[in-house]
Amino acid sequence: MNPDNFVNPVIKITLKKHPIVIAIDGTSASGKSTNSKLVAKALGYIYVDTGAMYRTLGWYCLQKRVDIHDPKAVAAACRKWKTSLECVDTKSHLHAVHLLVEGYYPDKEIRTAEVSAATSLIAAIPKVRDWMKKKQRECIQFGNLVMEGRDIGTNVFPETDYKFYLDAKLEERTARRSADGITENLAARDLRDSQRAAAPLMIALGAKVLDNSKMTSAETSGWLLAEIRKLMPQPK
Ligand code: DC
Repeated sequence: MNPDNFVNPVIKITLKKHPIVIAIDGTSASGKSTNSKLVAKALGYIYVDTGAMYRTLGWYCLQKRVDIHDPKAVAAACRKWKTSLECVDTKSHLHAVHLLVEGYYPDKEIRTAEVSAATSLIAAIPKVRDWMKKKQRECIQFGNLVMEGRDIGTNVFPETDYKFYLDAKLEERTARRSADGITENLAARDLRDSQRAAAPLMIALGAKVLDNSKMTSAETSGWLLAEIRKLMPQPK
């Protein structure tokens, strides 16, 4: 008797339709955003910037004068803020998930050095990370994802087979940020992100690691796409 004959067809369909999540973690300014967007576009997947979600909470706390040094106050704000997830077709034909607060996506406001520093602090709070993980997992309602962050492969979607970790030399990453007109102490932020107790920045087990210090974004995204294609089941 062949047990395959007894596979429930409903379950089979559900499994086939299960969305794919490509996890791209790494240090600040290691090219996660640029390359995640290029990969998402090439595959027709939806781009999720989890850093933007944390930044939105950091910005919200600064706006509402919540003390970012008080984990209880930040956790309470995070419990109460009114948010929604939206999948938008951005100007460059990239589909992306945005976290809106009170119906607003603070696209530009979250990119300041002040918000970066506040975000790194609030991102260390375990209750905040629990909330973010839940929201980030909800993103699969929109379809296949390319999700970038610090703990996607280790904590948010540890079950995915598609795990990547990008890095580059500190001098190179600092130069990339200043080319964008941003001066900030990346070493201090990376240290805080990798030394916190809750879901620190680290290389996920089985992740493919790339130091792209000497690579262009076309080369980095090309490498990512080639590795992803190797992992995808080949049609029989
Ligand atoms: O990727 P980014 O620079 O926009 O991230 C902003 C901050 O948010 C960063 O200091 C670390 C934190 N972060 C995090 O802790 N976990 C994530 N998955 C994404 C970002």
